[in-house]
Amino acid sequence: MKTLITNGTIVNADATTTGDVLVDGESIALIGTDLGASVSADTTIDAGGKWVIPGAIDVHTHMELPFGGTFAKDTFESGTRAAAFGGTTTIIDFAVQPRGQSLRDGLDAWHAKADGNATIDYGFHMIISDVRDDVLAEMDTLVDEGVTTFKLFTAYPGVFFSDDGAIFRAMQQTARNGGLIMMHAENGLAIDVVAGQTFDEGHTDPYYHGVSRSPVLEGEATNRVIRLAQTAGAAVYIVHLSAREALDEVRQAREEGLPAYAETCPQYLFLTLDDMKNGFEGAKFICSPPLRPADHAPELWKGLVHDDLQVVSTDHCPFDFHGQKEMGRGDFRKVPNGLPGVENRVDLMHDGGVVGGHLTPNRWVEIISTAPARLFGLPRKGAVAVGVDADLVVYDPNRRHTISAQTHHMDVDYSCYEGREVTGGSDVVLSRGKVIVDGDEWLGAKGDGRFLKRERSEYLR
Ligand code: URP
Ligand code: ZN
Ligand code: ZN
Repeated sequence: MKTLITNGTIVNADATTTGDVLVDGESIALIGTDLGASVSADTTIDAGGKWVIPGAIDVHTHMELPFGGTFAKDTFESGTRAAAFGGTTTIIDFAVQPRGQSLRDGLDAWHAKADGNATIDYGFHMIISDVRDDVLAEMDTLVDEGVTTFKLFTAYPGVFFSDDGAIFRAMQQTARNGGLIMMHAENGLAIDVVAGQTFDEGHTDPYYHGVSRSPVLEGEATNRVIRLAQTAGAAVYIVHLSAREALDEVRQAREEGLPAYAETCPQYLFLTLDDMKNGFEGAKFICSPPLRPADHAPELWKGLVHDDLQVVSTDHCPFDFHGQKEMGRGDFRKVPNGLPGVENRVDLMHDGGVVGGHLTPNRWVEIISTAPARLFGLPRKGAVAVGVDADLVVYDPNRRHTISAQTHHMDVDYSCYEGREVTGGSDVVLSRGKVIVDGDEWLGAKGDGRFLKRERSEYLR
């Protein structure tokens, strides 16, 4: 099966060109001008006036995550379908080691959730809840199996929290095996003290989730894990960085030449602590780290421009407002933490980043696709180039549309961006050469997504 995409503006991280892209089977066979004159294709897609970009890669999702006494609502089927409608053709989801069990137990459970259900390609990171000698040894095996990245937490005491010694040992292991430690960096022990005191003072609304989690305690934990990694001789990647204080630590480390990397998420660029007001409605915005006061986002944009932040992921972790977020009525500590967003990232970053004047189209592609591919060991993804997977998006940079729970494809009963009008949208989405989204039409299929055995990070070689 051959598909010819004609007359598009091909936007890669490093260059913009005009021309045609020939897809043969699952990969890109040829890029050039006027290819229609020399090759015959089964299907032609006219991309005149549109951009052809590499399918976006979301390196931080939580499909079906058991968390906060419930489960993140999107399955691998619904979540990857929603991702595809939003121009994302690869996700990397977090498998979880249940405390007291092995990494293998957690990984097998995640394979079972995704296999036969995912509609786009997917990889896994491994959340380590319980660092033990046998677990450290298992990390080497997982790296060889393409699960090359491990998330640990200085937050969530009693759930995912690891102490500094455990984190340090895991970092030493990746320094040896070429893996990468991803850190949720907030001082969870101190935060829980503040949250308890805040609750005891009678502040029970969701807004106080945000107030209890000081940005200083994100900065402190970010500094600590960077310095642990430095001492262990390991690289570190800070997930869902939200605060100026944390960014300062990453920037400082990078200026020192340390292999410190970080992502932020759309919620920290487009939403603020004030969104958590309005009584219990604020529960819709409860995530950790929390939304920050409005003066943090401009710093994060600067961080993206200057490459102190390399990636924007979503941390997609959707809970219905009704029935799930409502578990925390009367106690903000009981609201499940997490926001939906896998469908909205590409358009929000185009609208706020490119149209908003912060990012060139090339830098936008780099942040949403190319850097994630390189950092997370996916050499066949992240570029419009001959020989790589034909994960492609025909993107209309001028299409205006309104984000709403009425029209989104995520299996969740609200949107954090309800009513926000954005410019830019994915018209046609191809996953390994197959058109899976054509306008509003879904042409993909459950089970078509493949597990991606990832290589070690290109940034660490
Ligand atoms: O609130 C969040 N971020 N929920 C998902 C779990 C995590 O910490 O990434
Ligand atoms: Zn986290
Ligand atoms: Zn997360």
